[in-house]
Amino acid sequence: MRGLVSRLGGPERLRAILEVFYQRLLGDSLVGFFFAGRDLTKITAGQHAFLMRAFQENERFDGVHPSRAHVSLPPILRGHFDRRLVVLREVLEAEGVDPADIEAWLKVERGMRGVVQVGG
Ligand code: HEM
Repeated sequence: MRGLVSRLGGPERLRAILEVFYQRLLGDSLVGFFFAGRDLTKITAGQHAFLMRAFQENERFDGVHPSRAHVSLPPILRGHFDRRLVVLREVLEAEGVDPADIEAWLKVERGMRGVVQVGG
């Protein structure tokens, strides 16, 4: 995992990939409704900060923790969580991210299921 962000091309490249990712989620027929009318720039910034910590680039994450970030949303069910992972994989592949880094990234995200998913 160490060095993942520099292999991507740096923190701004991470941000650019996340911008593509959230545009894709917004347009997705299964999970798009979660993002409709939301501030994607803010969500991207929060996710960026979270991943910079998870990828060991930053020592701390001062943002809204994922366990609290979704409380005002409709329930995030297993299928929603899984769909987000599928879209993420597609985006990372399309962006030419190294296969080993894609697996490492997805492992981090899969590890969040217990704090993000609220129902079956
Ligand atoms: C690995 C799993 C996930 C992580 C680490 C994560 C992380 C985050 C973080 C840190 C924020 C706060 C952004 C800010 O600072 O405002 C956020 C917001 C949000 N997330 Fe997630 N998230 C995850 C999964 C999901 C899933 C599965 C969905 C829906 C399918 C989702 C939908 C949203 C939405 C709509 C917001 C904006 C909430 C608002 O505007 O109040 N997230 N997420």
